[in-house]
Amino acid sequence: MRTTLVDPIPIVGAITQSLVPDVVISPGNGSSQVADKVRQARMGLRPAEGFAVFFVDDFFEAASRGVDLGADGPDLIISVPTEHEPSTTSADSFTAQVRDHSRTLPVAIVGFGGGITMDTAKAVSNLLTNGGTADRYQGWDLLPMPGVHKIGVPTISGTGAESSRTCVLSNARTGAKLGMNSKFSLFNSIVLDPTFSESVPRDQYFYTGMDTYMHCIESLGGRFRNVFADALSRESLRLVRSVFNSDDMMSFESRMDLMTASCLGGMAIAGSYVGLIHPMSAALSIVLGTHHGVANCIAMRAMKDYYPTEYEEFWAMADRQGVEIPTVNGASLTQSELDGLVASTLVHERPLSNALGLDFGRRLGSGRLMELFALL
Ligand SMILES: [Fe+2]
Repeated sequence: MRTTLVDPIPIVGAITQSLVPDVVISPGNGSSQVADKVRQARMGLRPAEGFAVFFVDDFFEAASRGVDLGADGPDLIISVPTEHEPSTTSADSFTAQVRDHSRTLPVAIVGFGGGITMDTAKAVSNLLTNGGTADRYQGWDLLPMPGVHKIGVPTISGTGAESSRTCVLSNARTGAKLGMNSKFSLFNSIVLDPTFSESVPRDQYFYTGMDTYMHCIESLGGRFRNVFADALSRESLRLVRSVFNSDDMMSFESRMDLMTASCLGGMAIAGSYVGLIHPMSAALSIVLGTHHGVANCIAMRAMKDYYPTEYEEFWAMADRQGVEIPTVNGASLTQSELDGLVASTLVHERPLSNALGLDFGRRLGSGRLMELFALL
């Protein structure tokens, strides 16, 4: 593990501005907390005058039928398909759906689900007030205005979308998987209730939970670090390890710990950078359509030389939980798939510089990357 602290994000003030201002932990009582938050946003309006939009994860909706979301009569509920990760196109089309529903802006946007749903909610909230299409705002600090008041309610833990200052969207035209990185992409409030993650399938729970493990090891293993993000990452890692080394990773206590770890990991990554795992994982998502959490786990097969201690630890935790990590049959990928994977990895210059230095290109050329993808 490298110990040199080099700091491109110089002040803690800049980091604390990147934190969700209102975090409610409410085991067993999340729905009424959401209802309260929406009621507050509606304050001063008659119920019929102000509506909230609830984006709800389609898997959660089906698996938890009848769960109270905290929605009221005038609210618009939109189911978000989780088959594909969010894209600039899907964000634009959901925004159009909300605009078609009413000529007035909603009082609040609620993202009730995993990373796909929460990132969709954040993107739509930003687009409703800023106008234009989603691809205009992919990058750093391109949003001129705050979005509609947004509330995040995670139903699966690990992505950190609930506490990150971005909403990641694939862009089929540019081939980039890039977020609207902005202080306006933070949720105004989040509600954490481990009751909501009860119905998550075991494998998915592991893959997504491990996303926060990757955020933290990449951040702590990076060259650009700061003490605040380090502290958050270390505590997040402690919780993740306790969950995945326990006998029951899905007990109520474990689900609460993982929800907390995810939230802290998301805050940590808001003030630091990921490393080598995420660029390769993003390439798998762009080229092969692999979902983010499982793509990270697949990319871990190639990380023995880069994160040796964590490599061993990761496979031991997967073993302990009896979770199978899929493969993409890396050795039989076609040349055009490999070319696409290499190109989609190398666009992620900031994380690669964080992991390998500003001259990362000398250490990670196309040939080396193809060798690594062949291991997956
Ligand atoms: Fe991630």
